[in-house]
Amino acid sequence: MAEKKKLLIMVCSPKNERSGTLIPTKAFVEGMEQNGDFDTEYIFIDKMNIKPCRGCLSCWGREDGSCWMKDDDVPMIREKLINSDFVIWSFPLYLFGIPGQMKCLMDRIVGMVHPYMGQKLKDGANAMNSHLHGLQHQKPGQKILLLSSCAWMDLDVVYEPIRKQFNIILGADGYQLVACPQMRALDHRGGPRRLEMLREKYRAGGAEYAKNGGVLSQEMVDLLQKPIFSDAAYETLVVEFVTHMFDRPDNF
Ligand SMILES: Cc1cc2nc3c(=O)[nH]c(=O)nc-3n(C[C@H](O)[C@H](O)[C@H](O)COP(=O)(O)O)c2cc1C
Repeated sequence: MAEKKKLLIMVCSPKNERSGTLIPTKAFVEGMEQNGDFDTEYIFIDKMNIKPCRGCLSCWGREDGSCWMKDDDVPMIREKLINSDFVIWSFPLYLFGIPGQMKCLMDRIVGMVHPYMGQKLKDGANAMNSHLHGLQHQKPGQKILLLSSCAWMDLDVVYEPIRKQFNIILGADGYQLVACPQMRALDHRGGPRRLEMLREKYRAGGAEYAKNGGVLSQEMVDLLQKPIFSDAAYETLVVEFVTHMFDRPDNF
């Protein structure tokens, strides 16, 4: 019998189980599980003990790239990140970047990427599109998916910094990004019908991803990223949220 593929989901929202991003993430994972044999694990990084990087870079001098700090949850998380077949980073967009908890973890695992050895870039500006590091500790064939949610609908613009960061670290072919707009409003005001529409398409996304061995077609990415509320309805909801909703006790 073929061995189960290891599927690791890194939940990076500080809202943990109440994360809106978890809604499409869980549906995506369900779609994968319905189309393959996976050993699935969710890690809620906000619940983990992750000390900040101390900046020594001694990890790059160690053969296994590990950090000298061994007394928190990072060594365990790192093992799982290295040995998974599929890694899904589920995170909200924060100030057009990744949330602090996720950055704190990424800094601690910088030894997973190839060290900088003083090389000079040869092809100038084009170098932005090829990776400057790439992973040196990664299960062969591992696939990485960034599944993020945000408020804005202009995804090309608001995710440009994330793309730049991950392109320059991993290379454009080292990961795929799916962004889900309008998520907060969908979570709070979408109602069962719209939320089911969202789940249905993310289940289909997960199904395609599993069947294609961890690759999403551009058509599927476009479908997953398509806003569910019309522009006008969404604007009304956002105004309502900003003026009345954020202070409600059930928001905390
Ligand atoms: C501190 C903070 C910064 C945010 N920055 C952005 C942003 O730059 N662009 C955006 O579209 N949404 C932004 N948002 C909205 C979140 O990305 C959005 O509500 C997301 O769906 C929350 O996901 P979660 O429930 O999984 O945490 C921000 C939210 C917070 C709390």
